[in-house]
Amino acid sequence: MKANIVTLPGDGVGPEVTAAAVAVLEAVAAHYEHEFAFDEQLIGGAAIDATGEPLPADALDACKAADAVLLGAVGGPKWSDPNAPVRPEQGLLALRAALGVYANLRPLTVHPALADLSPLKNEKLKDVDVLFVRELTGGAYFGAKTKTADAATDECKYTVAEVERVTRRAFELARARRRHVTSVDKANVLETSRLWRRTVTRVAADYPDVTLEHQLVDSMAMLLLTRPGSYDVVVTENLFGDILTDEAAALAGSLGLLPSASLGEGSNGLYEPIHGSAPDIAGKGVANPVGTILSVALLLRHSLRLEAEAQAVEAAIDHVLQHGPRTRDVGGDAGTVEVRDAVLKALADYAATHRSYFD
Ligand code: NAD
Ligand code: IPM
Ligand code: MN
Repeated sequence: MKANIVTLPGDGVGPEVTAAAVAVLEAVAAHYEHEFAFDEQLIGGAAIDATGEPLPADALDACKAADAVLLGAVGGPKWSDPNAPVRPEQGLLALRAALGVYANLRPLTVHPALADLSPLKNEKLKDVDVLFVRELTGGAYFGAKTKTADAATDECKYTVAEVERVTRRAFELARARRRHVTSVDKANVLETSRLWRRTVTRVAADYPDVTLEHQLVDSMAMLLLTRPGSYDVVVTENLFGDILTDEAAALAGSLGLLPSASLGEGSNGLYEPIHGSAPDIAGKGVANPVGTILSVALLLRHSLRLEAEAQAVEAAIDHVLQHGPRTRDVGGDAGTVEVRDAVLKALADYAATHRSYFD
């Protein structure tokens, strides 16, 4: 097939991990006879430096017209002054809103070869397979903001329609998994959470084959550590989902491992690792590219509908996590490029032994 993919390398380690992921997409195209065209655009601090805007109009137009968008990361100390008039993160939020990608899928599994890196005991990590569905275009991130010299506010607002669509997405996804949804809120305190809970409960009636449980976010933060194996799909609002998924990444062994897919109603989607620009390691060639490469697998699956190719990329990552090389954050001493090359080799081997998928 032919596909136009916009890449947004962004800042810090963003360009390093994006380059590795693009190499994997190019290899997929070669092995499986597809034509992927890449269009690199500016976002974040790099875009501010070049144009004054965190998401230039050209970049946004290209993303809207693309079949899929692959993003590295935005932000960093250079643009983090709390008094700065414009911030890299605004570009990412504007992009998510403009693409209408309200459902952010963040899968968590623990690779057996990495279980010793987790702060949890191995026995707790058995059976961990959670799909977080984070609402991505509402809540405190997008509400009205005010600031005076001695006070500031961020409005947190949700409409029934916003909660309903992400809930339906979560239940649909649960149907293809273990048919269990945990909805996380703070309904004992927040009005938005009570609307969330009422709406999720009503929508759940349309999915009698899926079990629903509600969990308050503070205890959920604890339960994620004490019984992570008992969750299937976890659906939650924007800010809670941001925080819980970084916590979840610690179970896998590193923030550098987790991918994400941000989806709306159409087939275009935004794919990015869940980590940020990692300023402490940026430019050193040591960033873990696994989260971004696994995001490429999600791109192949959800936007291009190339399931066999998605599985090939996941199998290649599985092989490399098992046998190495690994970056420092997961106990190795390899650089980003060495891991990339090992993934490319594993992918080539996989493609050669799975010809029947595409002959
Ligand atoms: P971070 O995710 O950038 O880094 C947290 C820690 O994880 C650091 O020690 C970092 O070295 C490590 N880490 C992250 N990714 C890694 C990788 N691929 N390989 C190895 N180690 C990795 O979070 P932060 O330091 O809180 O934020 C830094 C900047 O990134 C901020 O400006 C923030 O706004 C931005 N950010 C952007 C995104 C995004 O673009 N989607 C996501 C999160 C944070
Ligand atoms: C993420 C990031 C972003 C978020 C920031 C950079 C806007 O932390 O993708 O998880 O909070 O959504
Ligand atoms: Mn985050």
